[in-house]
Amino acid sequence: MPPMIDEILKLKEEATVAAGRLNSADEAETFRLKYLSRKGLVAQLFERLKDVPKEEKPQLGKSLNELRKSLETEFESAKSRIEGQSKVREEVPDLSLPGRKRYVGKMHPLTQTAAEIKRIFTGIGFGIADGPEIEDDYHNFEALNFPPDHPARDMQDTFFVSDDSGKFVLRTHTSGVQIRVMENNKPPIRVIMPGRCYRNEAISARAYCMFHQVEGLYVDKNVSLAELKGTISYFAKELFGSEVKTRFRPSFFPFTEPSAEVDIGCIFCGGKGCRLCKYAGWLEIMGCGMVDPNVFKFVRYDPAEVSGFAFGMGIERIAMLKYSIDDIRLFFENDIRFLNQF
Ligand code: DAH
Repeated sequence: MPPMIDEILKLKEEATVAAGRLNSADEAETFRLKYLSRKGLVAQLFERLKDVPKEEKPQLGKSLNELRKSLETEFESAKSRIEGQSKVREEVPDLSLPGRKRYVGKMHPLTQTAAEIKRIFTGIGFGIADGPEIEDDYHNFEALNFPPDHPARDMQDTFFVSDDSGKFVLRTHTSGVQIRVMENNKPPIRVIMPGRCYRNEAISARAYCMFHQVEGLYVDKNVSLAELKGTISYFAKELFGSEVKTRFRPSFFPFTEPSAEVDIGCIFCGGKGCRLCKYAGWLEIMGCGMVDPNVFKFVRYDPAEVSGFAFGMGIERIAMLKYSIDDIRLFFENDIRFLNQF
């Protein structure tokens, strides 16, 4: 049997190496049982202390105490190392999981279309103005030369705001902003007026109770119908491509004389006739005309001094043509699968 001091040193070396290799709570417990428990190897050495010669006892006792202390320290530090590791293991992300998709926000197709229309007109010197969505009868109808019994004032189309005066409506078009602009400015005037409008219509793929228009107004000395046609043709080419044809069809609006509706050659079939243009070869994009002298009188402009043109288009309609959308309701349902496509 080697002297006990050698056994102590050997055990210390062996146990220290073993403690350094402990890798789990189970292994640590096995270590504790083997070395540090009441029947463990360290305790067994203590047990043998009573048989050693008296003079060696103090020295060996001291070495044994040091052994026990040192192994306890090793054991404790191994345990906290193992706990730390298992925590880290919990926190490490599972790299086999599929990633989280991040969606990039986009402008609504109507906002994009309005921005495109604004870009085109501001590029040729038009400013931008707006007016109230709750409008009075005077600006929405009367000053625009609607006769008092005009069917557009009918309950069918107009949302009336219920107040005591009975004079307020949700504007049915942006044309009333023309009146406000002329009331507050002297010619020359060159402005577009985008905004939201409302009509009391049955909701369908073609009509919604709320929609958007862009109104245009140009007033100066000697403004001609030729300028109206040139401006609108230029706009259509900018928006739908330089090859697109335009045609002006006589029409009627109370606030313009003469009035016209503007068609573009069908952008889907090139004019041959298809389902989308209802085999006409043409698609309607807006109304327009020369400002009626009666309208100028309402805003105290002298029709002998100035002339002008006006136009109005539905932003939904333009966007539906531009992006081949066949149901107006899609714009307002906020279905991310729809909105993501633009
Ligand atoms: N306000 C008309 C509508 O809602 C559109 C329109 C037609 C506006 C002719 C105009 C115009 O300025 O000149 O249908």
